[in-house]
Amino acid sequence: MVAGLQALPMPSFRQIFSGKKENPIYPRPLLLQDLWEAVARFSAEIRRSDFMREMFQRQAATGSTGMMGMMDCATLYGLARWQRPAVVVESGGYLGMSSAFILKALADEKLSDAKIYSIEMDPDCPHGALVPDEFRSQFVPLHGDVKELIRTDALPSKLDLFLHDSSHRYRHMLWEFRAFWPRLRDRGMLVSHDVHFNAAFPEFVAQTYAHDPRGLLDAERTRHYEWGRWGYVGFAVKKA
Ligand SMILES: C[S@@+](CC[C@H](N)C(=O)[O-])C[C@H]1O[C@@H](n2cnc3c(N)ncnc32)[C@H](O)[C@@H]1O
Repeated sequence: MVAGLQALPMPSFRQIFSGKKENPIYPRPLLLQDLWEAVARFSAEIRRSDFMREMFQRQAATGSTGMMGMMDCATLYGLARWQRPAVVVESGGYLGMSSAFILKALADEKLSDAKIYSIEMDPDCPHGALVPDEFRSQFVPLHGDVKELIRTDALPSKLDLFLHDSSHRYRHMLWEFRAFWPRLRDRGMLVSHDVHFNAAFPEFVAQTYAHDPRGLLDAERTRHYEWGRWGYVGFAVKKA
């Protein structure tokens, strides 16, 4: 036995994982354990689906690259199903792979009033070409630079989910996270593709933490409930 270990008031397994009791030693930002299990289940479900097979056949037929891969589309679908957003904004719509998987999640959750605003600045891009016809009524394509569009009233002022998938330059990613985070509602979700490209996502998340003078988590002042990374997709659930 390491000297002094017995004297430590160790939290029980139940205290740590049940979410029913506050751990006095290591407070946690929040209890969203259901997210992990649900997203894993939803993403496994979509990976086995005809929808996944058909979307990737259609993607291959375009001969284009630069769209989300299978695992990240499945994660995005799982996150959107767990969160059940009414208002989604995505930057970097391109041919619409990410849009299609968000729209599929909305359909599977029967959120027929929900909308996704998809931003694409390349005027030559067939924006959203891969979005299945049955989802078109919920797809709002917006043409322009996200930096310009955010200054207009084309974008909603309050959102449930923001997906970054435009330019993956460090400063641009950080700018988007900072620009759209204030628009997210309580429990709104910031999602970013390609978080491994640079330090923008971990740096942004780090800034949502607060600590007390002892270096312990200040759960009250911490501005997220949960965050994580699955493959190349990062997410943070906002605490307003
Ligand atoms: C990686 S692709 C997006 C892939 C798409 N999400 C998918 O899964 O099909 C990135 C897109 O972001 C667009 N883009 C880059 N910078 C942008 C900006 N500042 N505003 C809007 N769109 C931008 C590019 O034109 C490009 O089509």
